[in-house]
Amino acid sequence: MYTRMVRPALYRLGGGDAEVAHEWTLRWMARMPAPVARVLARSTGRLGPDLERTVFGVRFPGPVGLAAGMDKNGVALPAWRALGFGFAEVGTVTAHPQPGNERPRLFRLPASDAIVNRMGFNNAGSAALAERLRRYGALGYPLGISIGKSKVTPLDRAVEDYVTSLRRLYAFGDYFAVNVSSPNTPGLRSLQDAGVLRELLAALRHETEVLATSATIPKPVLVKIAPDLTDQELEELLQVCTDERVAGLIATNTTVGRDGVAPAEQGLAAEPGGLSGRPLTALSHRIVRRVHDRTAGELPVIGVGGVLDPDDAVRLVDAGASLVQLYTGLVVRGPGLVRRTNTALARARVAA
Ligand SMILES: Cc1cc2nc3c(=O)[nH]c(=O)nc-3n(C[C@H](O)[C@H](O)[C@H](O)COP(=O)(O)O)c2cc1C
Repeated sequence: MYTRMVRPALYRLGGGDAEVAHEWTLRWMARMPAPVARVLARSTGRLGPDLERTVFGVRFPGPVGLAAGMDKNGVALPAWRALGFGFAEVGTVTAHPQPGNERPRLFRLPASDAIVNRMGFNNAGSAALAERLRRYGALGYPLGISIGKSKVTPLDRAVEDYVTSLRRLYAFGDYFAVNVSSPNTPGLRSLQDAGVLRELLAALRHETEVLATSATIPKPVLVKIAPDLTDQELEELLQVCTDERVAGLIATNTTVGRDGVAPAEQGLAAEPGGLSGRPLTALSHRIVRRVHDRTAGELPVIGVGGVLDPDDAVRLVDAGASLVQLYTGLVVRGPGLVRRTNTALARARVAA
């Protein structure tokens, strides 16, 4: 139904402009009345006890989450749970609101089951997100909050920028994702370099310790990494993450590579930006396995990248992921992918 009827209509919106379809979908999701969302969450989006996971101290009702970037400003949070997501990650937000890059900046590659984007952290800012989350009150499922660096902030002031957002949003997140891996903010990925990353993570850890009340433990901070790191870079990054006691990794963000794109779509793939979807499946899988092996499974990983079919998620979990996230799969395969992935992961667990 989605691929035969809904998707063709969505892809025609705005004369084929992918961002118009995205905005339309988000508006529609945001308008879902709360009682409808609650009924759906208990029916099609139902999550049984076999799907529950406790990872880095947080209890997740289901292992499939919405990846960062889809709902940057957190406008449709009850609706994601209704589709069967066990958690959602909002953001990436920045300390300063910013418009992102010029449009067009989002491109669908249908023959490759892929997307190229160079959105550039278009978002209303961390203060606006805090205000919206305050109005929601309790969401009933875990919320991750992804934070990044504002474009106007120079790299040598990046730490302050991240700390400002963490401080504003601390009360509302169940975990925080430090985004140092988007290819669309100049210089951002250099924050994955060991020296700078150590400084950033130490500052964020200190902040969580200050913000935690005497009765609670500091909330988990995770690092989202690129799939393009060399083995040596990954090795150094893991050392820093272990030293700075991060709660886990999110692997991976989009790739700057273009392998796996269909020949007919090489032109579109030449657009600058990050590539997601099917061409990322093998890359994210490889990084998840490597992190799992190098840390002997001690560092929890949220696996993301190229989950287009339930089996992709099962393989990511086999490679060592404790939870998985979707973005491009939701666009290409539709919302039914969430439920099918939940079913496959529940079955795989019983079989294991
Ligand atoms: C249009 C678009 C915007 C994205 N924005 C963000 C973002 O703001 N922050 C982030 O951490 N990841 C962002 N991502 C990356 C996704 O969260 C995910 O890591 C990546 O797309 C790989 O997963 P997928 O193959 O399921 O899409 C974005 C991806 C897309 C396609």
